[in-house]
Amino acid sequence: MNSTRQGTFRTIIAASLIACGSPEPKLLQGEALKDPESCRQCHASHVDEWSGSMHAYAGDDPVFMALNARGQRDTNGALGDFCVKCHAPVALRTGATKDGTNLAELPSYLRGVTCYFCHSVEAVEGSHNNPLTLADDGVLRAAIRDPVDNPAHASAYSPLLDRDTRESASLCGSCHDIVTPGGAHIERTFSEWQASQFGNGTSALLTCGNCHMPGKKAPAADFDGVKVREVHAHDWPAVDVALTPFPNQDAQRNAVAKALSQTVVGQLCVSPPLADVRIDVLLENAFAGHAFPSGAASDRRVWAELTAYKSDVAIFESGVVTAGQSVTELDDPNLLLFGDRTFDAGGKETHLFWETASYESNLLLPKPDPNHRFTKTYVLPLKSGIPDRVRLVVRIQPIGLDVLAEVIASGDLDPSVAESIPTFEVIRLEWQAQDGYGCVPKDAFAP
Ligand code: HEC
Ligand code: HEC
Ligand code: HEC
Ligand code: HEC
Ligand code: HEC
Repeated sequence: MNSTRQGTFRTIIAASLIACGSPEPKLLQGEALKDPESCRQCHASHVDEWSGSMHAYAGDDPVFMALNARGQRDTNGALGDFCVKCHAPVALRTGATKDGTNLAELPSYLRGVTCYFCHSVEAVEGSHNNPLTLADDGVLRAAIRDPVDNPAHASAYSPLLDRDTRESASLCGSCHDIVTPGGAHIERTFSEWQASQFGNGTSALLTCGNCHMPGKKAPAADFDGVKVREVHAHDWPAVDVALTPFPNQDAQRNAVAKALSQTVVGQLCVSPPLADVRIDVLLENAFAGHAFPSGAASDRRVWAELTAYKSDVAIFESGVVTAGQSVTELDDPNLLLFGDRTFDAGGKETHLFWETASYESNLLLPKPDPNHRFTKTYVLPLKSGIPDRVRLVVRIQPIGLDVLAEVIASGDLDPSVAESIPTFEVIRLEWQAQDGYGCVPKDAFAP
């Protein structure tokens, strides 16, 4: 690494060790270097944002804990470090855990995807299941080429942590891509991105960090001599939220709700009634750099709720669930549901990763795949009446209630967790007869 600046760095440490008084920064080593709290003194906003993120929650997430515990039991321990490798990589690499079942007893600096983990990566040796190697040399890497020396740690530029390079997508992507012990490629965010127009080299490169870590002008550290640069958001809002008390919980939920409302473009069209009433729904994955949903797509439930009214009485409904009801329980021939379904080696549907051998997928793929658009037609028999109002709401649940029910039933998950699962809106559109037959909005899609 060319800009490590070990020389001046040593001189400054020497000076700071001579100075007295407790707030004087010291060289971070061992546990202190791994602990996000040690960074707060100089990088308070990075620590605050990370603290409420799913990277911080990855080793606390009660659904993760429950599924891992169940997986270890069901496989007699054969699952081993498969899950903890990504959800608490530092705990595994320091030897504090072997299978993640003891995470709750470990100090918090060992849980989750931490500052030290990302900022120490020196190489990416594969494309899935976290093949990252750490330098472990005390040097913290990111995209600043001329970092101001500081007594707490050495700094260096690395293309793996520069969101404007293709390599940076392989750092994020190789954890955001999972192949199960049974060989099923169940999380494919990275490979979807590689095939998308953002990653396939045919249009301008947009990496994971370009979309998920927006920049703003601010000092990167609260430290003498530091100037204003571009700094990058560390809260990564997407779909999942903390299900138990956690920092910045409301802000994180609001950021997730906002991001989800800006992902898919939709159109709702009602045709003049002939033999039947015809309603067309068009959806397009307009802004995700991979499929939507992506990642844990076998746990996600994305569905369309369509209701047609006549004088405020519902004359047709699809995808309407009652509180606490799983959308998969609906007996609804018209149901429009996106996500993956996973199967074991015998072809039986399973929600358990370690049993999964194959999957079926119904996702909005990224551009330029033709399946970035999806159309569905609902046909309402004339005899039920002609609607004067039609409402479309596309909703998403991070984890299906049917998945949770299975780990609650086996005694691995506290039933109260299911009550904290949010349902977010992806699209909400309403057509009214008074505006005439046709589409709302009129021109959502270029021809
Ligand atoms: C005593 C203050 C101080 C502490 C404590 C501190 N840093 Fe820094 N850090 C700095 C300064 C100063 C810079 C350079 C900022 C600049 O030049 O704009 C920096 C830069 C960085 C960079 C960018 C490196 C590059 O070249 O791109 C990373 C990453 C980083 N710090 C991570 C951490 C982490 C993680 C911790 C906690 C383990 C931490 N820092 C603790 C002061 C500190
Ligand atoms: C060590 C593996 C690892 C690396 C490296 C990693 N992630 Fe993650 N990421 C995770 C895990 C695990 C979670 C989910 C934790 C949970 O919900 O329990 C996650 C969650 C997320 C989420 C939130 C997903 C949701 O459903 O809400 C986003 C967005 C994200 N990561 C983006 C990134 C980006 C961008 C990078 C690269 C800068 C990156 N990740 C690097 C493991 C990783
Ligand atoms: C999932 C990986 C990941 C984790 C976890 C992570 N960072 Fe970063 N961080 C990045 C990336 C990627 C960049 C560089 C973005 C760019 O410049 O393109 C970055 C940049 C930085 C910088 C340089 C200034 C800036 O904002 O660009 C500092 C300082 C920093 N991180 C501190 C931290 C601290 C402190 C923590 C923990 C509280 C942390 N990071 C956790 C990926 C991570
Ligand atoms: C062109 C912008 C863009 C790029 C590039 C991009 N994403 Fe996303 N990502 C989005 C949008 C938009 C969403 C959906 C809205 C949301 O969940 O906040 C999303 C959602 C996600 C999610 C939640 C998954 C779900 O169920 O929908 C994860 C995890 C994620 N991205 C990780 C990544 C990783 C890793 C990369 C790089 C390999 C990446 N993203 C590249 C825009 C992008
Ligand atoms: C290769 C890294 C990796 C491995 C291995 C891995 N995960 Fe994850 N996990 C992730 C990432 C990345 C996310 C975020 C995915 C997204 O947002 O789409 C995630 C999200 C989750 C979530 C929360 C989101 C959800 O909707 O389910 C749970 C629970 C979870 N994982 C459990 C597990 C269990 C249990 C195992 C082992 C059987 C496991 N994971 C193995 C990377 C990994």
